[in-house]
Amino acid sequence: IGKNIYFEETVESTQKIAARLVYEGAFEGTVVVAEEQTSGRGRLSRTWHSPKGTGIWMSVILRPDIPVQKAPQLTLLAAVGIAQAIEKCTGLSVGIKWPNDILINGKKAVGILTELQADPDKIHAVIIGIGINVNQQHEHLAEDIRQIATSLLIETGREQKRAELMQAIFLQLEKLYKQYMAEGFGIIKLLWESYAVSIGKEITARTMTNAITGIAKGITEDGILMLEDREGVIHYIHSADIEI
Ligand code: BTN
Repeated sequence: IGKNIYFEETVESTQKIAARLVYEGAFEGTVVVAEEQTSGRGRLSRTWHSPKGTGIWMSVILRPDIPVQKAPQLTLLAAVGIAQAIEKCTGLSVGIKWPNDILINGKKAVGILTELQADPDKIHAVIIGIGINVNQQHEHLAEDIRQIATSLLIETGREQKRAELMQAIFLQLEKLYKQYMAEGFGIIKLLWESYAVSIGKEITARTMTNAITGIAKGITEDGILMLEDREGVIHYIHSADIEI
């Protein structure tokens, strides 16, 4: 991972470039990195603020031979790898909020967006979009997220070398991905759970159409969140916004 890197100055979204590269036959492990995104995409059709020079905005292309319903496992794998790399490079301790927000002191520093190119029964590629707030000062975070977001600079009090962190991420992702392909999701699930901040707590899972409140019981073998409501009914959450 990270042996082929496409560096771009300004792009709409690295996800878009990566999708084109997949179409053109890019190898697994190819990465697209941009200094700035003009329409960075977040989960649930939100935008992702990606100002010039202060963050890591990148997309990683994987081509795993796994069933489509196992794709969420790769999102969780990515979150674990990035969490490990950030801890290694900064000395901070981080948490993961399902499925893949990385929090530092309760605030979000990293977002991950996984997009699939797949037929109903076969994955052609998984594009893992990673956005990391690295060197933004508090006042440079977008106004609408300033209360809930943070950056590595804010949390450590010093500038971080983006290239170093990126290298560390590629290394961790590659290690975990090899382990995953060889041994399956078991170890990754355990690691993910060791970072999870919402398990055992009361949370609300909000989707476009409804909201369910209950206790987060854990994740399934496929990486789906299990939520037990007040009646004891277990809900399986594939995609939602979580409030803790
Ligand atoms: C989230 O909503 O938490 C996910 C944010 C993902 C942002 C990254 S930045 C690089 C890649 N390109 C995009 O347009 N989005 C992802």
